[in-house]
Amino acid sequence: MKICVLHRPYRNTEWQTKFSGEKFPDDAIEEARHHAEAIRANGHSVEIVTWSNDMVKNIRALQSGNYDLVVNASSLEEVALLEILHIPFMGSGIDLVATDKATRKRLWREAQVLTPAFALISNLEQLSSVELPPFPLFVKPVRGRGSAGITNESIVHNHKELRRACQRILYNMQQGVLIEEHIHGVEVTVGLIGNGADVMVLPPLEIEYSGQARTNTFMHKQDNEIFHCPARLPEEAINLLCEAAKRAYNSLGARDFGRIDFIYVPKTKQPYALELNTFAGLQILTGDEQHLHQSYIGKMCEQLGWTSRDLFQRLLAACQRRLSEAMVDDDTAND
Ligand SMILES: Nc1ncnc2c1ncn2[C@@H]1O[C@H](COP(=O)(O)OP(=O)(O)O)[C@@H](O)[C@H]1O
Ligand SMILES: [Mg+2]
Repeated sequence: MKICVLHRPYRNTEWQTKFSGEKFPDDAIEEARHHAEAIRANGHSVEIVTWSNDMVKNIRALQSGNYDLVVNASSLEEVALLEILHIPFMGSGIDLVATDKATRKRLWREAQVLTPAFALISNLEQLSSVELPPFPLFVKPVRGRGSAGITNESIVHNHKELRRACQRILYNMQQGVLIEEHIHGVEVTVGLIGNGADVMVLPPLEIEYSGQARTNTFMHKQDNEIFHCPARLPEEAINLLCEAAKRAYNSLGARDFGRIDFIYVPKTKQPYALELNTFAGLQILTGDEQHLHQSYIGKMCEQLGWTSRDLFQRLLAACQRRLSEAMVDDDTAND
């Protein structure tokens, strides 16, 4: 195949920069090169296309390349454009990507996937009328990623702290605020590859907080986490998490790969699904990287003994299979 790897500069830090005003090193090109290398190792030809603010430029680059497949789309805009241009791409579609965390949580509730109780606000006045779960609460942007906007102050114990945390997200990030019950337990994230009944669940990764971190904040995600893979939980809990992850993934119609973040509460044996990551990081570090961090899925692959070539072989196979099945469906529909 001729495959395009999209490269969107600052894709993972742009929201945190809005929240805190700080600039962060951009690792997006290193990530794109990593993916390109892994795809090349599987015998495909690869080109990296850098995403531009000029949409005409993007259209030209994507169309003139005659790509069989695009990988590493990592934002709503990229996915939207690929769908408009009818270019096959790896990952979830616009119908899912366009939804926010609150909408996904509502869908999870319908599908009996346990998720923290929540309220959603889009301005401070709503704080006085909205029905809140009991304190302590957890406050986060409704379209957050990479823990942008998450600090120790995201855990709030009273109305004053709640108001301040909401204010920062509303004004700095210009996003709605998801106010959830704060779940105290073990943080575990679960990677998945594939589609529908064929989905494969990767070994659950436990994230232990180090130092002063009381939650997995943006700064804590910069190499401060302590990883345990598989998670240090009894087999029963691991099975529960894997089952919940599959249900959470399939009930939203996620495609090709993804990651579900959970807090597992050992006392009640309940896994609370926090969010689905449709743009989960896929890099497996070799040691030569300058800014790139290990991805959570990369940690899971290390545990399985997979190289990035192995991971991309499975990802591409899952994606190709889905695309060929979609073509059969189309043909039948035309009969
Ligand atoms: N309801 C909650 N209870 C406890 N911790 C939470 C809750 N929601 C989020 N967190 C913490 O905040 C982190 C980021 O939240 P998450 O919903 O995964 O957003 P992001 O898209 O930024 O990763 C989680 O990894 C977890 O440590
Ligand atoms: Mg997360």
